[in-house]
Amino acid sequence: MSDHDLTAVPGQTDAKRAGTTSAPDGTGSAPPGPMIVFDRVSISFNGRPVLEDVSFSVARGQTLCILGRSGVGKSVSLRILMGFLQPDSGSVSVDGQEIVGLSEEGMRAIRRRITMVFQNGALFDSLSVRENVAFPLREHGGLDEDQVQQIVGRLITMVGAEDVMDALPASLSTGRRRAVAIARALAAQPEVVLYDEPTTMVDPLVARRLGNIVQRLKRQLGLTSIVVTHDMRFAERLADTVLFLHEGRAGFFGALADFLASSDGNIQRFLELDAYRLPSSQG
Ligand SMILES: Nc1ncnc2c1ncn2[C@@H]1O[C@H](COP(=O)(O)OP(=O)(O)OP(=O)(O)O)[C@@H](O)[C@H]1O
Ligand SMILES: [Mg+2]
Repeated sequence: MSDHDLTAVPGQTDAKRAGTTSAPDGTGSAPPGPMIVFDRVSISFNGRPVLEDVSFSVARGQTLCILGRSGVGKSVSLRILMGFLQPDSGSVSVDGQEIVGLSEEGMRAIRRRITMVFQNGALFDSLSVRENVAFPLREHGGLDEDQVQQIVGRLITMVGAEDVMDALPASLSTGRRRAVAIARALAAQPEVVLYDEPTTMVDPLVARRLGNIVQRLKRQLGLTSIVVTHDMRFAERLADTVLFLHEGRAGFFGALADFLASSDGNIQRFLELDAYRLPSSQG
């Protein structure tokens, strides 16, 4: 990734991003095939299977929502994708590259392309919002102070946190901290963003605002996203495709509309339970 790309982050278009960042041959044409592929992935802990033969894929620029009850392996799936956990069997590829068994160095290169937005935001408490977002830019290097501040300003505006630029994270609400965490994740200029339960512990209005941010990033930056959520309203707004995990298996993988219309008993029970939840509950 060149510094030129980095400078262009906040303003670039879908076509520009999809076309230039992942071309392996420098011709500017994106290679065919999905961005993320899980093929018959299994993992167990202490002899207890958590994922069994789970397969799914995410096309470039699309959003996959991973749904399922607590403990089915949603977070584990994200951690496998980040290379923090190794599956017992199966294949996981990112932009056509197998990542299972990849060296630590190879995995570092993958982690420059995929970022995870953690639930608590994992912001640096002693740094202002502005400095938190600037951190990945400074780490990356190659930008002068004016460029850093310009990109930081655009990213913070993008997530609607202009008014708290100079605040410390501790003074912000949970929703605001998450918005800032998204801005900081974007400063690393990822191609894929993973969100683990972005709407837990925030009220429906804040959840909607976070949803708007994720939507905007998809449209403006063409980012590929995986969103783990309990929140069906959130999923309905964002998902192109849905992976429903149930008892270790991919109980459903396909288009959102087909998931909602499914007559499968497990899916119906999941959707019914969701409908009974209070809007502000965390499921
Ligand atoms: N490193 C680990 N060592 C042992 N067991 C683990 C490890 N990581 C996850 N597990 C187990 O794997 C199962 C799935 O965990 P995971 O965190 O993926 O659930 P989840 O679907 O994200 O649930 P929730 O909705 O509650 O966040 C759980 O039973 C968990 O205890
Ligand atoms: Mg989880």
